[in-house]
Amino acid sequence: MIENIKQYISEAENYTSDKVDEIEEFRIKYMSKKGGIVTNLFKDFRNIPAEDKKEYGQILNQLKNAVENKVNVLKSALKTVDAGKKDLDLTLPGDSVNLGTRHPISIVRNEIIEIFNRLGFAIAEGPEIEDDWHNFSALNFPKEHPARDMQDTFFVETNPDILLRTHTSNGQVRVMENNDPPIRIIVPGRVFRNEAISARAHCIFHQIEGLYIDENVSFADLKQTLLYFAKEFFGEETKIRLRPSYFPFTEPSAEVDISCTLCGGKGCNVCKYTGWLEILGCGMVDPNVLESSNIDSEKYTGFAFGMGLERIAMLKFGIKDLRLFFENDVRFLSQIQ
Ligand code: PHE
Repeated sequence: MIENIKQYISEAENYTSDKVDEIEEFRIKYMSKKGGIVTNLFKDFRNIPAEDKKEYGQILNQLKNAVENKVNVLKSALKTVDAGKKDLDLTLPGDSVNLGTRHPISIVRNEIIEIFNRLGFAIAEGPEIEDDWHNFSALNFPKEHPARDMQDTFFVETNPDILLRTHTSNGQVRVMENNDPPIRIIVPGRVFRNEAISARAHCIFHQIEGLYIDENVSFADLKQTLLYFAKEFFGEETKIRLRPSYFPFTEPSAEVDISCTLCGGKGCNVCKYTGWLEILGCGMVDPNVLESSNIDSEKYTGFAFGMGLERIAMLKFGIKDLRLFFENDVRFLSQIQ
């Protein structure tokens, strides 16, 4: 019996392996609670004659220690080998983490918001699902007026009074209804028009609206505010030009061009050789609009403007197809930071 155990000890001491599951097999063969060699030998202990018990016990403990020792040694050798395989060098710089980028429309929106914040404009928001009053009627669009057709509205089928807002001007109305002048806000948001999707148009796009109402607000204030914006956003050398236009909610109304961001006004294919690029619509708030929201049009005047963010982002980043903003292809998005 003792000889057998000595045999096991030398087997255990000589055993070697560099594979986890083999080492585990070795451990189980000796130590398993059910049928392990060491376990069984301990069970036999009580059958050993009293005078042999001491020697038997000692040698059995030797076997147990030899096995446990071997398992530990082999396992820790494994760990070092593993670490060695990976060439672990803690002094090397870590792998860089790929950070995402902001969407170009967000970049442009944030920059515009920041510029107008510096002029004291606060941010307001209106709902994307709107009623006729806030999107049209309160903005001086008479019922049946052709100006409504220009906006290619998506209506909710079951209720023609409910629609997807066609512009962020609904935000103007909601702020005027709930606040007394002075009012100085910008309204960024998503708008919807039933237009065919092309390189220059989409049925969903983004606008930023501006509204300033106080005593003695003049057209000169509007022009100066827009000039400041254009220079801050497109560069100090930028010029603006205002052309007469029409919106039901402003009188007089104008469309604003900036000098071409590419050729500086000399004429190129971006500005179609005019030297100018249209960026927004604006005007003095029509007194009817003020009155619709219970603002005294004898006391207060104001200006408003609205610009499309996709258009501005296209100019800023030299992007030729508006659809790219909606496809969310990371190869495109990550180029613009
Ligand atoms: N709401 C107009 C549009 O969507 C833009 C605009 C806003 C014009 C405010 C004048 C004043 O085209």
